[in-house]
Amino acid sequence: MKLLHIDSSALGANSISRELTAAIVARWQDNVPGLEVTYRDLDNNPLPHLTGQVLAKTDPAVAEAGEIAIQQFLESDVLVIGAPMYNFSVPSTLKAWIDRIAVAGRTFRYTEAGPQGLAGGKKVVIASARGSIHGDNAPTDFQEAYLRQVFGFLGITDIEFVRAEGIGYGPQQRADALRGALAAIPAPLLQAA
Ligand SMILES: Cc1cc2nc3c(=O)[nH]c(=O)nc-3n(C[C@H](O)[C@H](O)[C@H](O)COP(=O)(O)O)c2cc1C
Repeated sequence: MKLLHIDSSALGANSISRELTAAIVARWQDNVPGLEVTYRDLDNNPLPHLTGQVLAKTDPAVAEAGEIAIQQFLESDVLVIGAPMYNFSVPSTLKAWIDRIAVAGRTFRYTEAGPQGLAGGKKVVIASARGSIHGDNAPTDFQEAYLRQVFGFLGITDIEFVRAEGIGYGPQQRADALRGALAAIPAPLLQAA
């Protein structure tokens, strides 16, 4: 089984989402013998934004980086993604990665009956960290809602969120939110196909 571990926080060692993804991946490693883990740090090693030049594949190195990203995504059974809320959405580094893995004909396609995801059968676990408290299905949430939409569009229905929020409210709330999220890490199970 292959697990793709992705971090995107710009806050390094102070990051809540990085601490959460590490704990989630450790749980999977403890429970799945021989689990193969690939790590991508999109903050240290970001993909270029999707531009006309990127689409035209004029730079072979950039084209290859995109191909590696999509192969890693397609080969993975489980994705563990650190996704802080930045300006109500996700970090642009995470968006740039999504722009490279959401590729017509590879991970989704349009049919006469509408769009069809081609990357089903995977599990996605999102470590969500937020400075304010937004709760579930908030009109201010373009982060978790966006990730649910985009992975759903690619055919992935098994999506779990581990959320720590109110991080900016002070040290006590930060510690409580982190403790609560660590305790809420779901058992490493794949949904029956
Ligand atoms: C650039 C930036 C933008 C942010 N925008 C928001 C926001 O729109 N809403 C919010 O609740 N928190 C926001 N925050 C707070 C982060 O979501 C919070 O610090 C969270 O813990 C970041 O995840 P991390 O600890 O993994 O880096 C922002 C933080 C940064 C650095």
